[in-house]
Amino acid sequence: MTDGPDLVILTGAGLSAESGLGTFREKDGLWTRHDLNDVATPEGFARDPELVRDFYNARRANLREAEPNDAHRALARLQRTCPGQVMIVTQNVDDLLERAGAEALHMHGELFKTRCAFCEAVRADKGDLTAAEACPSCGEAGGARPDVVWFGEIPMFMPQIEAALEHCRFFASIGTSGAVWPAGGFAAQARRAGARIVELNLEATEISEIFHETIRGPASEILPPWVEEMEGRLARSPWGC
Ligand code: APR
Repeated sequence: MTDGPDLVILTGAGLSAESGLGTFREKDGLWTRHDLNDVATPEGFARDPELVRDFYNARRANLREAEPNDAHRALARLQRTCPGQVMIVTQNVDDLLERAGAEALHMHGELFKTRCAFCEAVRADKGDLTAAEACPSCGEAGGARPDVVWFGEIPMFMPQIEAALEHCRFFASIGTSGAVWPAGGFAAQARRAGARIVELNLEATEISEIFHETIRGPASEILPPWVEEMEGRLARSPWGC
């Protein structure tokens, strides 16, 4: 048994686009309508915490209305069929993978969690972030922020992710432009370590040329057949499904 998952899957906003959560850099993407320096940096939060809370409260409201799509369900099925062999690393802060029954490492944090900027305590929270609410741990008010990784902050779970990239036999990049690091470098890292790497995306990305294989189309359409194929490949692996 390899010491780690056989298949590492990296997902991005494209996985949840068909659930109505939009993406960041496409036409009408979030970063075409909001300045990320104002709403997704510690400096922006220090400058204008209400602007930042309003931005994330609107995203929480959107996520409360959203439902998983066939792409999320396909990945959950692959994990169920091949227990212990499939690690999902997501850049997404939504909980649609979990609602579909999958497990994922949220390297950019989670939208439905609130962190206290004073004591770093984290709690589950689907409601609105407010300046008035006192932190249940330290009692301070005014420190409520989403438990997400802002630009300039360190992504989560990096030691587990790095170890898995060194040992996986397959790597897949799904619904991400590869524009943000360190996630944008995971495919090349896995390839250097000997993995076969595939990109599943609506269109070509900044890193498409490094992949052994690229599959184009909406995630909800291209993932179910790809999952069937991967179940076959993983079942044929010495460790089987
Ligand atoms: N199916 C498959 N792919 C899709 C779909 C879809 N239905 N819709 C869009 N895409 C693809 C786009 O072609 C694009 O390449 O998803 C990608 C989304 O790219 P970005 O908007 O850059 O989002 P992402 O790659 O997740 O961004 C990475 O940047 O802003 C930060 O922290 C944020 O996690 C995010 C990170």
